[in-house]
Amino acid sequence: MPVTKERKSRSPVIRAGLRSGESVRVLISHARVQQRLKELAKDIRRDFPKEALHLIGVLKGCVFFLADLARELGGEVSFDFMAVSSYGKGTNSTGEVKLIKDLDVSIEGKTNIVVEDILDTGLTLKYLLRLFEEKKPKHLRVVVLLDKIERRIADVRADYIGFTIPNEFVVGYGLDYDERYRNLGDVCVLQFDSRGKGKLE
Ligand code: PRP
Repeated sequence: MPVTKERKSRSPVIRAGLRSGESVRVLISHARVQQRLKELAKDIRRDFPKEALHLIGVLKGCVFFLADLARELGGEVSFDFMAVSSYGKGTNSTGEVKLIKDLDVSIEGKTNIVVEDILDTGLTLKYLLRLFEEKKPKHLRVVVLLDKIERRIADVRADYIGFTIPNEFVVGYGLDYDERYRNLGDVCVLQFDSRGKGKLE
């Protein structure tokens, strides 16, 4: 199949499974994401050229980002996953985070990179870093694909940032709305018109 046709089949309009009243527009194309991942991988490997890297993915939004980044990193790479759920993610959030799935293997003495799709209020990351720091890692770094700085509540920052984005509701490349849209190749802004049933916040 010619490349152009293959590209077309990735179009969010075709692939999104849009429901009535919902629309998406591309914020960051799949190609731009992939290009940026190569740069992020280089930055990480520049800091840790020879070390075995242990990636810690925070489910579920991280899945494509972690998978693609891991393949760009080269060298010795292992990974593990956490699952957490947060309550009241709006500005009134208490910051309470519940552990759904713990890590399978120890991070002690390892060079660990926490891989997050998006840094929003920062409450999830703050909780996770506190948890991980107690486990005596050799190094603990954070890479995020998207950083929504305007929404930050907790005093945390990522060491490696793919893109800083405005305060818009984004889906695709792992990010969801009500579990949908994760399979979009591009990072897109989700919008509702008057028929849309959804409520973003
Ligand atoms: C997203 C993301 C982070 C968290 C960031 O997960 O993957 O874990 O939100 O938000 P915060 O900075 O405000 O804490 P989400 O709860 O949407 O779950 P998902 O990854 O399963 O979609």
